[in-house]
Amino acid sequence: MSFDDQIIKDLIDTLSFKGRFSHYQELPPCVLKRLVDFDSNINYQPAQLPLDSSRYSWIISNLNMKNLNVIDLGANLGYFSVRLASESNANVYAYETLYEYAKSIGVFSKVCGLSNNLKVIQESINLENINELQIVDATLHLNVLHHAGIFFDQEKVTNVDDWYSYAVEHLRSFRAKSEIMVIQIGNMWNDKVLFDSQYSVDYICELLNQSNWDVDKIGLINDFNDFSYKTYSFSDIGLIPRIGIWRNPATGLVEYKENNVTIAELSSGNAQRPIFLCKRQRD
Ligand SMILES: C[S@@+](CC[C@H](N)C(=O)[O-])C[C@H]1O[C@@H](n2cnc3c(N)ncnc32)[C@H](O)[C@@H]1O
Repeated sequence: MSFDDQIIKDLIDTLSFKGRFSHYQELPPCVLKRLVDFDSNINYQPAQLPLDSSRYSWIISNLNMKNLNVIDLGANLGYFSVRLASESNANVYAYETLYEYAKSIGVFSKVCGLSNNLKVIQESINLENINELQIVDATLHLNVLHHAGIFFDQEKVTNVDDWYSYAVEHLRSFRAKSEIMVIQIGNMWNDKVLFDSQYSVDYICELLNQSNWDVDKIGLINDFNDFSYKTYSFSDIGLIPRIGIWRNPATGLVEYKENNVTIAELSSGNAQRPIFLCKRQRD
């Protein structure tokens, strides 16, 4: 089998996988471009709202990633890892616990020729092994922490009330790994509410502060037509719209509400999650 045939076979295998978190991310542009070159019939459709390119744009417009060493925790298909390695020449360590997704990142790395600056590590990161991670410039910690107790550290978070103190310990441990962290956190834990979505900005800023991280910038979608993120400085926190989400059982859709007015109805609540760019506090 030729190199290209093998890659197409690997792409078909990996992209047809169905399971938890499958079809979560979009395909990175360098992979999409090669799919056109390969003239293959791969038709991968993400199931999530199309937020990845907006999230990526927000991150790189607020943090110059050129040549940085970066951890991407819970890298999934590697959308961020691959873009950072291919477009920002960052040196990326992609940690992904599930074999199928770690395999996808490996295939994408081959497709895009990134073997020098993208390392894929199939491992579950937990409180015990955070200290074994290499020290980098920045950590991407996107949409993983609310899964503590469900996918990792099950013995440490046995119910929703354990989560906050666990999160503080987890985030404090990451202070030893990088000076900068970009983080997103969902507000549900096993169908239970961790915090009121309307006040997620306030809650997560407080959590980060307790964990000895200073919030520098906050990104929030407030135009639901193009899903672009608006940037707020921490000092402008009072100006950030407080948008709450609620799944309407009658429609199955998530309603986004500001001042009790519905401003959007979408298939998931992910477009409500703010992104935080943080710097570790000095000791
Ligand atoms: C909700 S998805 C988020 C993916 C990506 N970070 C994003 O925001 O687009 C969570 C991903 O993290 C992975 N994951 C969950 N817990 C992990 C852990 N402890 N270590 C490494 N990967 C983990 C899951 O397998 C999944 O691919």
